[in-house]
Amino acid sequence: MPENRIEQLIRPHLASIQTYQPVDPPEVLAERAGIPAKSIVKLNGNENPYGPSPKAAEAMARTPMHIYPDPFQRNLRASLSDYTGFPTENIIAGAGSDELIDLLFRLFIEPGDVILDCEPTFAMYAFCARINGGELRLVQRDELFEIDLQAVREAIDDKTKIIFLSSPNNPTGNMVSEEQVRALLDTGLIVVIDEAYYEFSKETVGNLIGQYENLVILRTMSKWAGLAGLRVGYGIMGSGIVDHIIDIKSPYNVNVAAEAAAIASLEDSEYLLGNVQSIVDDREALFGSLSEINGIKPWPSQGNYILCQMDRPEDAQQMFDQLAARGIFVRNFSSDRLRDCFRVAIGTPDENAAFLNAVREISQ
Ligand SMILES: Cc1ncc(COP(=O)(O)O)c(C=O)c1O
Repeated sequence: MPENRIEQLIRPHLASIQTYQPVDPPEVLAERAGIPAKSIVKLNGNENPYGPSPKAAEAMARTPMHIYPDPFQRNLRASLSDYTGFPTENIIAGAGSDELIDLLFRLFIEPGDVILDCEPTFAMYAFCARINGGELRLVQRDELFEIDLQAVREAIDDKTKIIFLSSPNNPTGNMVSEEQVRALLDTGLIVVIDEAYYEFSKETVGNLIGQYENLVILRTMSKWAGLAGLRVGYGIMGSGIVDHIIDIKSPYNVNVAAEAAAIASLEDSEYLLGNVQSIVDDREALFGSLSEINGIKPWPSQGNYILCQMDRPEDAQQMFDQLAARGIFVRNFSSDRLRDCFRVAIGTPDENAAFLNAVREISQ
């Protein structure tokens, strides 16, 4: 076989794709820090520090694993309908909301179509856009990380198909207002509002679902329900889009264990939402404490994380490195706009205290 043959066969737009930077699992982080995995304080993935509902594990243990899952996700969608108040035909589940992001691109984007991305935001939108051969048009958020509606409108042309917005925005923590969402929907583009942190913000644009057939809302069981490892997300949208997604998705995309755990979690939402409230209270306390530290500006957040801005990119890098050396892992960024920032997820009270003490020590 001639040299480089495989490289030549790979689709050109994928051959040297800029990939997604995922977070490493605890054992890898532990090895890097030279400490046991159980001593790691992992605050880099916006995961739920309290874990899942005990009922989720019980439900998984009872689930037969030798039978394929229901391709139409009937039971899961019915449970999601009870929980959200939207009819089943407006709901579809994915292997994490990540899968739904990808499916939306597959459904709407032809190579050369334009995707609008309001930076800085969740990197998955740009990643899936590139994979699907879309052309990314980056519209910068303003100095407060708010959407620049004027700039978005100016960026739209007849190739533009879809705009993705995370609300609260990961990593900046702020919301997009209903007024802004309406203005964007009025452009006629597909507008995806990613409400991955809805249970923490308690704000939604769900009331617009019946009014706008170009609105798609994404949610997840990863954050509030502590099921990140099982991969269950869902979308709320017009039934026409749901039907098209059912047509193109992999038939058994949500596995039986994940489905059982998600349904049990939805039935145990009171317990899980109690944990969400603790995280929100601790977020506010941590925000207050961080505000008192010289050289750190925490940004107000409606999610389960706080973006912390430092004076210079070197300071953020040093903070990241010195926290990592103590076994405390936060998220850092390579983009120009966020090189002076790191993002910390809200952990248990002990984890938050360990993080805060370390930050105070490093900042002295
Ligand atoms: C804004 C946003 N959307 C989606 C996701 C991914 O969620 P899931 O675990 O359901 O794929 C994340 C995860 O961090 C996120 O921050």
